[in-house]
Amino acid sequence: MPVVNYNNNIRTSQRPGISLEESQDFYKTWAETYDQDTTNSNYNGPAATANLVLKLFEGKTDGVRILDVAAGTGMSGEALQKVGFRSMDALEPSEDMLLLAKEKNVYGRLIQDFLGTNRLDIVDGEYDATVMVGGMVEGHVGCDCLEELIRVVKPGGFVVICMREVNLRKVPEYRKLEPRMKTLQNEGCWEPVSRVVFSNYCEGEEGIIFVYRVC
Ligand SMILES: C[S@@+](CC[C@H](N)C(=O)[O-])C[C@H]1O[C@@H](n2cnc3c(N)ncnc32)[C@H](O)[C@@H]1O
Repeated sequence: MPVVNYNNNIRTSQRPGISLEESQDFYKTWAETYDQDTTNSNYNGPAATANLVLKLFEGKTDGVRILDVAAGTGMSGEALQKVGFRSMDALEPSEDMLLLAKEKNVYGRLIQDFLGTNRLDIVDGEYDATVMVGGMVEGHVGCDCLEELIRVVKPGGFVVICMREVNLRKVPEYRKLEPRMKTLQNEGCWEPVSRVVFSNYCEGEEGIIFVYRVC
């Protein structure tokens, strides 16, 4: 069994029952030390996801347009850049997090908005992939966001979601996630590509990466 080493700020940002407003408030104070705290907690979600995305595109990164959703301070964008991707935009609601992401110079467009049922200021099929790492957290992104993740990807492109595996059971909202994914599959919106569980997502806990191909 891996050693689970919990970090106070990570725990506070996703405490049971936290609302979206409360978690957004918390990011105002956490933004400055977010990278340090997550790095100290062996946060491996961005790197694991970037490596998998590279495989999806068979190692070809030229011209691949990616929307990094719930981009935070840009750690997931940095990981995508490290494996060779060069055309990433960021979607992130927290101004404080987004300012730090901007400083990393890994994104083109920075979109300050929430992912949910609202229509984003993005045209249909703009991206080759939407990638969300760490957005499926208590009081963060809801399961009703999947349609919008799909809408902005071109047919044949990918939706990639990486999260703590335990959240599929622990967080009431995410008990609905896989049934919702299946419904969208039955409706012909996307088809499953892979469902990978990996060790050491963060703080010694397992992660899961879902990949769907948009129809
Ligand atoms: C744990 S951080 C992950 C950041 C980054 N992807 C990473 O891997 O470091 C979660 C981020 O989700 C953002 N977030 C919360 N609710 C959101 C929503 N409804 N839509 C988009 N982003 C949201 C938060 O502001 C926060 O920056």
